[in-house]
Amino acid sequence: MTLLDVRELSVGFSSLYSSIKVISDLSIHVDHGEVFGLVGESGCGKSLTAYSIMGLLPENAYAEGAVFFKDKNLLEIDREELRKLRGKDISMVFQEPMTSLNPVLKVGYQIAEVFMAHYGTSKKEALSRAVELMKAVRIPSSELRVNEYPHQMSGGMRQRIMIAMAIACRPSLLIADEPTTALDVTIQAEILQLIRNLKDEDNMSVLFITHDLGIVSEITDRVGVMYAGRIVESATVSNILNSPRHPYTMGLLDSLPTVKGKPLKPIPGNVPRPEDLPEGCRFSDRCRFAMSDCHDVEPELAEAAPGHLARCIRAGESLWHS
Ligand SMILES: Nc1ncnc2c1ncn2[C@@H]1O[C@H](COP(=O)(O)OP(=O)(O)OP(=O)(O)O)[C@@H](O)[C@H]1O
Ligand SMILES: [Mg+2]
Repeated sequence: MTLLDVRELSVGFSSLYSSIKVISDLSIHVDHGEVFGLVGESGCGKSLTAYSIMGLLPENAYAEGAVFFKDKNLLEIDREELRKLRGKDISMVFQEPMTSLNPVLKVGYQIAEVFMAHYGTSKKEALSRAVELMKAVRIPSSELRVNEYPHQMSGGMRQRIMIAMAIACRPSLLIADEPTTALDVTIQAEILQLIRNLKDEDNMSVLFITHDLGIVSEITDRVGVMYAGRIVESATVSNILNSPRHPYTMGLLDSLPTVKGKPLKPIPGNVPRPEDLPEGCRFSDRCRFAMSDCHDVEPELAEAAPGHLARCIRAGESLWHS
């Protein structure tokens, strides 16, 4: 059953002189108890998608389309209702843990504040619940560390604090925006395991944002690949990894560091700026399979195989499996 249903979301920025669209007609859904991965290189629009769902877009941004969470369109409900949902039913682990933690407040108090704000819990009770949560996210000596400030903790521990805050109210949807990017591989594996456990214990749904298909393979059930503000491919994780249909996804796979001998092969060039998109397919200027008709019209997101969508006019052909 669907918990989050984003329908034809477009996001842009307008100023007095110009208006620029950075996300175009994005449709994704996240079912109860599943991890949906949103993948793409830097600047594709992953974080803005998350902010649109959370109602946290910058002042000069606009959003069109619909974001249904259960039966409510989050783009239309009033601010107060959204504020109540946020942190309680839907919560987010932000890309930059240091900027989202308050440097002058003890970590335990910051977790406790979530309970105080949403349930009116007393400070004493909230602090003891904070210790419980810190244990749940496997922070050693939680009873002592509850009194530490963020700067006294390592990156991995701070990220656990962020996760503890995000899951404090047992949300039905957790949005995790690159939650492990700044961490080394061992800690990254531990955080992924932690998110998997939380999902299994609470049947929580997760929108997992990353640029790394390696991480996607470890934690997600279904995947949406984003390029220059658009979904270019979506399918189950095994189809994305084993039979990708869009050359961009293939490029991301080829650029993964792999086992010995196989060099990593980055996709040449960069994601185009939103004001600088190529004609036709947005990926055509970087695509090793591009032909002249790829520069004519932008392809629709179409079914290339059952349940497998791709935005490429040759997605149904097998020319790149040679
Ligand atoms: N406040 C803003 N004003 C104008 N443009 C913005 C603003 N915030 C983001 N953008 C543009 O929107 C696009 C998408 O940004 P977004 O932060 O969502 O990318 P991302 O996929 O999360 O990238 P990263 O992997 O680096 O976090 C980028 O082209 C960016 O320049
Ligand atoms: Mg981002």
